[in-house]
Amino acid sequence: MNSQKFIELEDRYGAHNYHPLPVVLKKGKGVHLWDVEGEKYFDFLSAYSAVNQGHCHPKIIKALNDQASLLTLTSRAFHNNILGEFEKYMTKVFGYDKLLPMNTGVEGGETANKLARKWGYLKKGIPENKARILFAKGNFWGRTLAAISSSDDPASYEGFGPYMPGYDLIPYNDLESLESELKDPNVTAFMVEPIQGEAGVVVPDEGYLEGVRTLCSKYNVLFIADEVQTGIARTGKMLATDFEDARPDILILGKAISGGVYPVSAVLADDEVMLCIKPGEHGSTYGGNPLACMVAKAAIEVVIEENLAENAEILGELFRNELRSRLKDCEIVSLIRGKGLLNAIVINDSDQSTTAWDMCISLKEMGLLAKPTHGNIIRFAPPLVITKYEMFQALDIIERVVRKYESR
Ligand SMILES: Cc1ncc(COP(=O)(O)O)c(C=O)c1O
Repeated sequence: MNSQKFIELEDRYGAHNYHPLPVVLKKGKGVHLWDVEGEKYFDFLSAYSAVNQGHCHPKIIKALNDQASLLTLTSRAFHNNILGEFEKYMTKVFGYDKLLPMNTGVEGGETANKLARKWGYLKKGIPENKARILFAKGNFWGRTLAAISSSDDPASYEGFGPYMPGYDLIPYNDLESLESELKDPNVTAFMVEPIQGEAGVVVPDEGYLEGVRTLCSKYNVLFIADEVQTGIARTGKMLATDFEDARPDILILGKAISGGVYPVSAVLADDEVMLCIKPGEHGSTYGGNPLACMVAKAAIEVVIEENLAENAEILGELFRNELRSRLKDCEIVSLIRGKGLLNAIVINDSDQSTTAWDMCISLKEMGLLAKPTHGNIIRFAPPLVITKYEMFQALDIIERVVRKYESR
């Protein structure tokens, strides 16, 4: 079957809740993907930063295979011999007392929200049902009703009401607005992405995260960092919050925690917060299953052993510098921004235009896969195992495509 046939099959039998680029992939290795016709591509999306360790990393696949033939799922009705070791490992790596395992990023967000509400009632003394959680405008944390209730993107929330009460939005990267809201004693948490990924890789000012930490401490409000996209070395450190003195009270991880091999997410917090949830009050059938734990442990080990944070920092710097100098005469690119290997270019056009989409089609034709976000922004986020040589090859492709559209 050719690509067209596979696309027609999805279109005919699948829900139309995505608008994928017209490429049908069948194999991945490291930074590369191959389609069903055998064409090879650079992956500059990394499944929205889930495949930081590169496609089908041998160590992670080995962990998957080894554990898959031993024990995959027991549910949390029983103990298993893997979960405790995984929790010990993760709490040591990330520096928290406890871990709560889930499966997807959005479940991590839900877990963090539930923890924050419980903590608000039990520890902060917020009257029943009055707890408020603040979010930043432009946030994205998934597609559940809770997640879309905090969204200001009509495509996410419109037609799905009624919405979750107790959620409020404040501007991103604005400590003054945060402080004025935090004065309300019913605010239990502020949940924020250290860099807003889906909003188009929006990087806040230096000092913002540290400011959030300071203000949350001052007003006894939990700082929840959604590091589902920024975490696991993507921005040049293990966590994006590591760049500042900004340790969150609740840390949400997902995506690359398993290297794109299995859906795993995790929430980390200290006992004061985590032990607010008691047996029977939260959970998930698959959360913390032995297969997930072995895969995620191997995936984190790969990040550490292969110094992927350092590679992300160095090659990210190179990527932005090269792109800025190569494209400085191009008016079609109005901004190049990012941190580590989470980067984006903003196309000088309305966010309703199809230019960014058309450019992604041209990039694909030249062997590089990327996806627009919010119409006129193209995100560039390759696996962190990318080499300098491969980065220069990719830069050549991007430059050629930008020039093609510049000269139109
Ligand atoms: C910052 C952030 N949080 C949460 C999520 C949701 O993760 P998932 O799609 O695994 O539910 C995403 C997904 O893109 C994300 O970028």
